[in-house]
This record gives sequence, structure tokens and C-alpha cells, in this order.
Amino acid sequence: MKKGEAVDNYDDSKYDFTHRWYKGSNVHNDWPGFIQEWKPLKAMEIGSYEGASACFLLDNAPSLQQLFCIDTWEGSSEHQDVNFIDVEYKFGRNIVDALEDKNPRPTVVRLKGPSHRMMSGLMDKHEGSFDWIYIDGSHRTPDVLLDAMMSLKLLRPGGLMIFDDYTWKPHDDMDTDVERPHMAINTFIETHVREVDVILMKYQVFLRKKPEQE
Ligand SMILES: C[S@@+](CC[C@H](N)C(=O)[O-])C[C@H]1O[C@@H](n2cnc3c(N)ncnc32)[C@H](O)[C@@H]1O
Repeated sequence: MKKGEAVDNYDDSKYDFTHRWYKGSNVHNDWPGFIQEWKPLKAMEIGSYEGASACFLLDNAPSLQQLFCIDTWEGSSEHQDVNFIDVEYKFGRNIVDALEDKNPRPTVVRLKGPSHRMMSGLMDKHEGSFDWIYIDGSHRTPDVLLDAMMSLKLLRPGGLMIFDDYTWKPHDDMDTDVERPHMAINTFIETHVREVDVILMKYQVFLRKKPEQE
């Protein structure tokens, strides 16, 4: 997929997804351009669910060599009626299907557990090494803030951090609330002006970790 090409043209028919959240919305339209610019070799995502964002990256980033997928596969408060045994099974199947036609085949590492625990396990070997980190796990303010701070440690200088759901609200009359990522993303940006550059703020927020010499 080329820069500017509509995500609606992405053929994901081989996958078993309950939600195709990137179709019919412009949420993901910025990814092809960023993929082309960053050419990520090593990526991580927090919040994999059935693997839609992971498969999207695997299918659209030919540079990709390693993808780390973190999820509890237990859901959050907005997933009350979801059967996570099915969700986790679909994730596994979808990743197998995504890798089937890849040559060379990227390595997908599945890390099951709370994101802060999984990321602390990665620090020794992987600190400062990720090109691309997508944060789409828990929506709670303290969790998003912690995900962002730990992700910044794992990101290489110049690496890209993406937050989902910046303007998402569980219900319309909600402005600032601890059950949505908005306040955490704002706080993270305000307190890390020396560490990150804001690239784009829409429904998703894209930040670049400043290169070390700045
Ligand atoms: C919105 S879904 C992710 C959607 C996914 N990126 C996709 O493309 O379909 C959020 C996921 O985050 C996971 N999650 C929630 N809190 C978490 C936490 N503290 N640590 C790790 N995963 C968490 C949930 O189990 C759920 O699967």
C-alpha cells in the first residue's frame, strides 16, 4: 500500500476479525505514509485483541523483521460481553494466516500479561531498540501514562510512538475522565517536551522520540 492510498483498498478477507475498525473511517489512513517513512524493522504493540493492527502492519510493512504483541487477552471494562478465549484463539489463527505468504517471514512474539509487566521483562535486552510502538491497550489514564513512559524507554531515538483513541469517549457527555486516554496523552506530551516531538494529533496521536544529539 502506497502513501495516501485509501486503507479501504486493503484486502484483509483472509482474516477472521469481529471488527475491521480501520475500514470506513480515516483512523488508519496515516499508517501507510508513516510505514513508508519509518520502514520499521522492530515493532511492538500494546493491545492486540484479534490481531487486526498486527496483521495490518505485517501486511503493509515489508521491512518488518520482529513484532512483539502484548495483551492480557482478558479485556477491559468496555469488553464486558466479549469471550476472550475466542479472541485469543482468533489472534493466533490470524497471525498464522498473516505470516503464511511472507518471505522472509517476520518473527511475531506473543507476550501475554499486563503491559507494564511484559515491558519490564523486555527492558534488559530491548531498551532503546524499537522503531515503532503502537499503544492500544487499557484506556485508563494511569495505565496509558505508564504504557507511554515505558514505551519511550523501549523506543530507539527517532522511533515512532502511536496512541489510539485520543478523542474516544465511552459516552458523549464525558470531557475529562480517567477511563479514556485523552488526559494521559496530553500529560505525557506536556511532561516530555524534551524527549518527544508531536508529529500528528487526530484520533490517533503520532510522536517521534527525539534523536539523542538534540
Ligand atoms: C482495543 S483492544 C486492541 C485492538 C487491537 N489493536 C486491534 O487492532 O484490534 C484493547 C486490548 O487491550 C488489552 N488490554 C487491556 N488492558 C491491558 C493491559 N493492562 N495490558 C495488556 N493488555 C491490555 C485488552 O485485552 C484488549 O485486547
